[in-house]
Amino acid sequence: MGIWSKKSVAVLQAEAAGEDGAHQLKRALGALNLTTLGIGAIIGAGIFVLTGTAAAQYAGPAIVYSFILAGLGCLFAGLCYAEFAAMIPIAGSAYTYGYATLGELVAWIIGWDLILEYLFGAATVAVGWSGYFSAFMNELGFRIPVQFTGAPLDVVGTHTLVASQICYDPATNSVVKLATDAVCDTSKYAITHGVVNVPAMVLVGLMTALLVIGIKESARFNNVIVITKLIIVLLVIGFGFMYVNSDNWHPFIPANTGTFGQFGWTGIVRGAAVIFFAYIGFDAVSTAAQEAKNPQRDMPIGILGSLAVCTVLYILMSLVMTGLTSYKNLNVPHPVFVAIEAAGPALAWMRPIINIGAIAGLASVVLVMLMAQPRIFFSMARDGLLPPVFGKVHPRFQTPYITTILTGIVCAIVAGLFPIGLLGELVSIGTLLAFVIVSAGIIVLRRKSPDLPRPFKTPLVPVVPILAILICGYMMASLPSDTWIRLIVWLAIGLLIYFIYGKSHSRIGGTSAAGG
Ligand code: ALA
Repeated sequence: MGIWSKKSVAVLQAEAAGEDGAHQLKRALGALNLTTLGIGAIIGAGIFVLTGTAAAQYAGPAIVYSFILAGLGCLFAGLCYAEFAAMIPIAGSAYTYGYATLGELVAWIIGWDLILEYLFGAATVAVGWSGYFSAFMNELGFRIPVQFTGAPLDVVGTHTLVASQICYDPATNSVVKLATDAVCDTSKYAITHGVVNVPAMVLVGLMTALLVIGIKESARFNNVIVITKLIIVLLVIGFGFMYVNSDNWHPFIPANTGTFGQFGWTGIVRGAAVIFFAYIGFDAVSTAAQEAKNPQRDMPIGILGSLAVCTVLYILMSLVMTGLTSYKNLNVPHPVFVAIEAAGPALAWMRPIINIGAIAGLASVVLVMLMAQPRIFFSMARDGLLPPVFGKVHPRFQTPYITTILTGIVCAIVAGLFPIGLLGELVSIGTLLAFVIVSAGIIVLRRKSPDLPRPFKTPLVPVVPILAILICGYMMASLPSDTWIRLIVWLAIGLLIYFIYGKSHSRIGGTSAAGG
């Protein structure tokens, strides 16, 4: 009992089927919408920004191998998610799978950890979006004053996600972005004079409003964006390949510099940990399980289909980028643009399109992350680990509107006011931790309840979950130690909240147990 109590799969399945008599979310999504939700969450800042940094700093053209390695880790974890999501189609995703297999405390830890992935992930990408959007507006002649495009704490320094140094140039009252290896001369540049990041907050506000209005409406909007970004990615790949100079691929794996993680095989692994960010999001599909028309069949399609599409696109895209120009030139905030620029005037028409691709791409990532987070809170509230008001469903829109609005408000504040550049790697480590726990959960449940009906079965258990744990664990280990410290601090705060509130209010393990 207590912190190790588990929620039985039978109870979870009854909840998913609506037999608990509670207000239900609207079952409006089919396989195609689920797949596009996945693609919406996946293709974003990772491919549009981090590929360049990772190729230039760690792997060279062999960033393609980094994409394959990280993609394999995600595939193995994705197969585990697919089994759970089809068997326990509950909006709580990894949190719920943890509750069914490893007990309440572990479930709480995953739930709390997922805030790093979804809420902070949305805020981080919203800030990246704001950077692209402001630059695009500037080009069109609409200048957004620098005070309103950056957070007050947005200090001079390296920003992982925009792969650049953000410096404030007092001479022009504007923010300049320098390559990460450039020196941000503090005698020339100063702390940014940001007050609040308005575009990032507005984006979060709009996406939140859409998500309150309806899952179907949100999915439709996402479809339009996904089609736009897919067309643009395909154009870059198709036309880019015609102008590749294969000399740029030699040597494909640049020799290691003598430092661990700088080129060579160790660089490929380091690169994989960095570009893992590009894959984050396919798991968000599982939070829409209670809104899927046929989750048993469509959850695996949505999770694995979106992952497959994006993996192929990422491999091709990184081949094209490193083929169009030397990887050394890609250490910039807009590497896709730089690669296409290298093709010369023949592809000049594509340059503005790339900006649109990035703006659309990043917006849908924010949308789907903001969709996922409230559904986890919703499930936690239904289990008593968060206040019951979080579990309310809007009578007309059938959306978890309280948690959606709350998530939107917190996300907008974080995006508008906090030094977000520090969060990129925290989002990755948080997601990887969830992947590791979910994969371990598959092994546990296969042992404990081998006969449960499983509409989708992860192949080769325990080999596949173990490989997922090893690859994801290795990528976690490759992240910097300060990211680990931040993760541990975050989890410690979560534990404190659990012992102060969740433990005693839990419907399953707590003292106020109301059965389960
Ligand atoms: N995969 C998402 C992105 O790259 C988080 O923006």
